[in-house]
Amino acid sequence: MPARPRLVVLVSGSGTNLQALLDACADPAYGARVVAVGADRDDIEGLARAERAGIPTFVAKVGDYSSRSYWDRALADKVAAFEPDLVVLAGFMKLVGEKFLSRFGGLTVNTHPALSPSFPGMHGPADALEYGVKVTGATLFVVDAGVDTGAIVAQTVVPVEDDDTVSTLHERIKVAERAMLVESVGRMAREGFVVDGRRVRLGG
Ligand code: GRF
Repeated sequence: MPARPRLVVLVSGSGTNLQALLDACADPAYGARVVAVGADRDDIEGLARAERAGIPTFVAKVGDYSSRSYWDRALADKVAAFEPDLVVLAGFMKLVGEKFLSRFGGLTVNTHPALSPSFPGMHGPADALEYGVKVTGATLFVVDAGVDTGAIVAQTVVPVEDDDTVSTLHERIKVAERAMLVESVGRMAREGFVVDGRRVRLGG
């Protein structure tokens, strides 16, 4: 990794994970900087957060392209224009495809609000609650072609309380998730990392 690696962050929603990264990057000692924020939709708080921080934004909507594969290539082109050293999917609710992964595979991480390999997909907190687990959490992983299946960088555990709803549980997960994301992305930036099969070693 170069000094102060360049992060491109992709979002789809409220962008609280993005905000945590923006706040961390305000200190040069953190070791990374967010050079652009992209989204798959307009008018989201995630993009507004980037704009307030003076960071360039871009949007690539699936519906604006004649196929998913053209969208995937366009997204990769838009990301590539900012020459990232690491791409962070922070609440980005689309699966990236082959074209994207051929360029950024091994350099893209995603955060999932469950303890992989349990409860992959769009409804991690609801599925964990429904199953009745007593602990759940969040997982940071290196994106591969599967749904939340990539090699695990870090995990954080939170308790499930008896009176939790999906939203109270997801909020508790998000507090831990943001801390994990900031800590792990900072270490990846400062120390480097190696992906060896399913094992990810920081400080590679
Ligand atoms: C996070 O819990 C993320 O893991 C999930 O959606 C949430 C996004 O939150 N996929 P935010 O947009 O960062 O606030």
